[in-house]
Amino acid sequence: MEYEEIKTRMKHILERPVQPIPEDKLEPERKRYSEQHKRSREIFEKAKNLIPGGVEHNLSQNKPFPLAMDRGKGYRVWDVDGNEYIDYLMCGAPIILGHGFSEFDEKIIEIIREKGPATGLTSEYELLAAEEIIKHMPGVEMVRFLQSGTEADMAAIRIARAFTGKQKIIKIGGSYHGWSDQMVYSIHLPGTGAMQSKGIPNECYAHIVDVVPNDFDGLERAFKDNNDQGGIAGILVEAIGGESGSHPVHPDWNIAIRKLCDQYESLLIFDEVVTGFRLDMGGAQKYYDITPDLTVLGKIITHGYPSSGAVAGRKDVMSVCTGSLGEKIYIGGTLAANPISMAACYHALKLMEKFDAVGKATGYADRLAKALNDLFATRPDLGFFVYNFGPIMHYVTTGFFSVPLTSADALTQIITRQKTADDYQLVTMSKGLCTLAGTRMYTCMQHDDEALNKTLEVWEYLLSLIPRG
Ligand SMILES: Cc1ncc(COP(=O)(O)O)c(C=O)c1O
Repeated sequence: MEYEEIKTRMKHILERPVQPIPEDKLEPERKRYSEQHKRSREIFEKAKNLIPGGVEHNLSQNKPFPLAMDRGKGYRVWDVDGNEYIDYLMCGAPIILGHGFSEFDEKIIEIIREKGPATGLTSEYELLAAEEIIKHMPGVEMVRFLQSGTEADMAAIRIARAFTGKQKIIKIGGSYHGWSDQMVYSIHLPGTGAMQSKGIPNECYAHIVDVVPNDFDGLERAFKDNNDQGGIAGILVEAIGGESGSHPVHPDWNIAIRKLCDQYESLLIFDEVVTGFRLDMGGAQKYYDITPDLTVLGKIITHGYPSSGAVAGRKDVMSVCTGSLGEKIYIGGTLAANPISMAACYHALKLMEKFDAVGKATGYADRLAKALNDLFATRPDLGFFVYNFGPIMHYVTTGFFSVPLTSADALTQIITRQKTADDYQLVTMSKGLCTLAGTRMYTCMQHDDEALNKTLEVWEYLLSLIPRG
């Protein structure tokens, strides 16, 4: 679906009142959720006294309580009560071969058995993993491995400042670049500024320039106005739009950013934590044919195994990571580039290429998007729709992610719309679909016709609970 159509459809959804599931239909759903997930509830009741909030991850269904998972295989996951789900969370994007892919897991088990977890020194797998990344990504000549996407984003900012000698970093509103002090600014929703900044001193944002997505004039102004005030060192970009495409960008947006970076001698940093090796083996940079100066990579490079992150890019830029004391920038991590993560990276990328994981996951996502949009077309009173960037799918039901903050009742709108989306998700989850945040689905190369038909059945069921408007 093209940008203009997505925007128009979103606007229509926001113009309509939300369509909640009536209480008499919702109550039995809540009851079923509780009855089906007794063991999950027990775990949650104990965990919330030991772990703040009772859960570390807030990616999927947490209301009325989060579900504890037992295992995954292929496109399926099972919870501790034995319920089966078609998984569209895929661990928040890194799983594209499918869960428990034995050809991959065997390699990791071999490393653990024969080499142990880590020595704190380098291993040959580090070189092999770097070679694989460089082979696929047009903008990458050198790679520095780290332990998470958050760390890699932090490193990219530091590298950009050290290389350019400039201070300011542009962050596009609504995008997510991890939870470091400087990056928790206008996250999730454009224009929210320091709304989620509890615990972060204001000074941390002194050199962050917040730009609203698709505001071409604002973007240009940000480069121009800051030129005499330290200058723009770099701009962090999720090329498919903030929150992995939840805030889609105009087709000319990334092109304009690249041009301004060249004009003002600032670095273009693509955050490819989700898009790298998922949208394309060459990432968003290959997909859009725009070469960034720096690339941030995360979870998918180890396909779900821990210690996963890297900052990569042009050789001259990356060279600020080397040199003698006082000359090089300081970044590190004891377990960064440990042999297990590096073997996982090398083998995961090899297997994704061998099986054309991106192509297959994309093919399924295209078919599912079409089938869901056909189903939603039978309920024009709702206006639900789906769009996808390859195997990164978004479904829009209440549009809570797109409420403009300029509207007078923005907060009420967001809360009401999110609550209804949560109720929808409670139904789809307890009927066997595991999705992300009630708005997103990631596909893997193993999703098949059976998964597609079951997915449609669950959505049909949800639609049947919402009265015709
Ligand atoms: C685009 C993007 N950047 C950075 C991160 C942070 O990565 P991590 O959770 O590994 O710290 C994420 C996490 O989802 C992400 O989606």
